[in-house]
Amino acid sequence: MGGMILIRLMCALSLVVALAGCTQKSQESEEKLTDADLNNPVKCLGKPIAGLTSDQLRKFHEGEVLFKKEFTPEEGLGPLFNGKSCFECHGQPLVAGMEGRDISSTSILNYARRVPGSAKAKKPLKEVIQNISKPDVDFFLTRGGPSLQRKSITTEFPDKFPFDCQLDFEQVPVEAELQSNRHTPPIFGDGMIDMITDGEFAAVAMTEHTENPALAGRPIAAVDRYTESARPARFGWKNQHVNLFNFTTGALNIELGLTTYAQNTENSLDPLGDNPRCLDKYNKAGSPNDKGKTLLSLAWYQTLLAPPPRGQITEEVTKGEKIFEKLDCAFCHRPNWQTAKQCFVGDPDSELPLIKPLEVTALEDKEFHPYSDFLVHDMGADLADGIPQEGAKGGEWRTTPLWGLRFKKFFLHDGRTRDLHEAIAMHGGQGSSSAQMYEKLSKEDKTALLAFLKSL
Ligand code: HEC
Ligand code: HEC
Repeated sequence: MGGMILIRLMCALSLVVALAGCTQKSQESEEKLTDADLNNPVKCLGKPIAGLTSDQLRKFHEGEVLFKKEFTPEEGLGPLFNGKSCFECHGQPLVAGMEGRDISSTSILNYARRVPGSAKAKKPLKEVIQNISKPDVDFFLTRGGPSLQRKSITTEFPDKFPFDCQLDFEQVPVEAELQSNRHTPPIFGDGMIDMITDGEFAAVAMTEHTENPALAGRPIAAVDRYTESARPARFGWKNQHVNLFNFTTGALNIELGLTTYAQNTENSLDPLGDNPRCLDKYNKAGSPNDKGKTLLSLAWYQTLLAPPPRGQITEEVTKGEKIFEKLDCAFCHRPNWQTAKQCFVGDPDSELPLIKPLEVTALEDKEFHPYSDFLVHDMGADLADGIPQEGAKGGEWRTTPLWGLRFKKFFLHDGRTRDLHEAIAMHGGQGSSSAQMYEKLSKEDKTALLAFLKSL
């Protein structure tokens, strides 16, 4: 009898604790930063957005653990892959969510060729490279394309597999005249971008067309794997994904080789070496490798990862900001955006295939400053890679968000320069008039503009 009452009391108590947990605000990201802290990536980055409940915060930290976790072949890693964890590429300088550590091992290589014999293939590449679109291209889909997997589980874990069960990692076919190295971008603040309402992108594109058709960008639509409907894309160097859930599905599949319920076939089954099915018995994860928890938990973590706080604002920075506007930089690198009035994020504890939406009030109706229009622009032949993705053509790139620029080491889609001055001077195509105005600035004005960029 007494035992029953005790159990009931404990249940009631734990209910009170649970309810308190739901409304309690987190203090974690509201700590004040000193001027020195503002240039220290470890102090500024990797934090959750402010105002989360403790339950939301617990799920954030669970996702963070998975972001850093190194997966094993037994858990579904591979058979072909590029990294064992998300952190391996998105971890410079040692903060989860940051850019690639070094270009050679953290970039992704996409490859293709013009369809042999097609009209575009008959012209010199430089003449057509900016206008190549999907129907013009062979992505080598039966030979491991369009994205290279540099590693195989049998070569990375030689002790785990017998000699007669070996898998070749991929090689770029010699005919692949189009090759595009993609630098790993940071993920901070992407949750805010995820929460922009769909209609905003078309509205911004219309405004740009009215204000200056020569500079105006194009919105790109891509298919949402969950709803199977087309929506405006906003992530990736070519605006190829609609949200973090979709990007994470692709990253798990292509970079880690983990299948999920949203994408349940291994990325590349060709070429698989001499004995392709011999690996099946080593996979203990079943099919799909991830039943949903990893995918949803990673998407949750990234959605709630706070944007980089703005750096110090000096007089010179304020002067530089005016120049940024005068040179039309702000036309494409659009400072001000707002999240939706109501924001829902898929609960990592959902029973799949149904994703339970959880409202996250901390994301709602927030102004934020990514410095991008999330549209694609033709940036000229020198920046063009000739590889179309979704609706973006060979010469088009999404305007790169500039927030957090002071912590970045490599600039432009392939990380081709570490010099901000060069990154601006290399703007071609629709960016060339800005680049020319930049070149003509006085030394002081150039310094002020760079000081502004380094305050972001
Ligand atoms: C081998 C390196 C590598 C690994 C491992 C990797 N990524 Fe990436 N990630 C990249 C590169 C490169 C890009 C840019 C791709 C592009 O847009 O062409 C990218 C882009 C992204 C983006 C888009 C960011 C934006 O703002 O446009 C997200 C989100 C992302 N990765 C999440 C993940 C997650 C989650 C994992 C782990 C499951 C992961 N990545 C593993 C290299 C990697
Ligand atoms: C027509 C649109 C447009 C204009 C105008 C423009 N940019 Fe860009 N900017 C882009 C696009 C698109 C990219 C990505 C190009 C790439 O990676 O190949 C980019 C990339 C950058 C980068 C590299 C960021 C990174 O992390 O890799 C910097 C810095 C930059 N722009 C600064 C400026 C400045 C400063 C100006 C004004 C002088 C300017 N941009 C004008 C569209 C524009």
